[in-house]
Amino acid sequence: MKTNFKKITAILAAAVLSTAALASCGGSDAPAPETTSAPSTNGDELIMGTNAAFQPFEYVTENGLVDIYDGIDVAIAKKIADESGKTLKIEDMEFDGLIAAVSTGKIDMAVAGMTVTEERKQNVDFSDTYYTASQVMVVPADNEDIQSAEDLKNGKLVGVVLGYTGDNIVTDTLGVSEENITRANRGIDIVQDVKNGKLDAVVIDSATGKALAEANGLKVVEDPAAFESEEYAIAVKKGNTELLDQINSVLAEMKANGEIEELAVKYNSEVGIEE
Ligand code: ARG
Repeated sequence: MKTNFKKITAILAAAVLSTAALASCGGSDAPAPETTSAPSTNGDELIMGTNAAFQPFEYVTENGLVDIYDGIDVAIAKKIADESGKTLKIEDMEFDGLIAAVSTGKIDMAVAGMTVTEERKQNVDFSDTYYTASQVMVVPADNEDIQSAEDLKNGKLVGVVLGYTGDNIVTDTLGVSEENITRANRGIDIVQDVKNGKLDAVVIDSATGKALAEANGLKVVEDPAAFESEEYAIAVKKGNTELLDQINSVLAEMKANGEIEELAVKYNSEVGIEE
């Protein structure tokens, strides 16, 4: 009796184990085709990570295009999701954390007015580019002494957003001294310091800088000789060519049929600026 019982228990245990093994095999070997190279996707969701404090590219609003989110990037991402038969899910996070979120698979793609840089390319793959921007200086409306990027080095107090390309340019390229640089997490916060006289200028991307200047009674000074043009692209996990190909084909279509240009005009005019 005892032996029999042991035997049966052993057989049962083996059966349970092999069923479990089969089940887990089935789970990882036969998912929906899209999920093979994007572990964070549950099959019908496409997860976009962004930092939704970057009008006109992404911002929070009551009746957004996707939940509470709207903007040029949201419209582009929605089209990518639609065309691949998925639902777009948006994760709003700090800009500085986006590259890590992409490379660890927490999000499928970062769509965030993100400039392609050599440094970022070490950690993520970029799509084709979809927008050209440059840095500008947001200064008080009556400012006269900041005419060029060079002027920022004359002891001016300069604000940037942490981790934005504007931060690198002010810190490394222009070499403004560290004690004169203030960093914030959002453009809207740092621009308040120009408004209340605590800072002389904020260096930030052109469209966002113009929108912020417009909303806060400030003005924008451009210096194309000092601030090179920057290209925005979508970042995906290294090696996720399947998603990258989907993104690139939607971007190509939207560039060719003028949709990206239309979105830029539409969302720029909503924040009171011309392109
Ligand atoms: N283009 C700049 C960069 O790549 C700023 C992007 C900020 N984007 C945002 N969604 N907050 O660093």
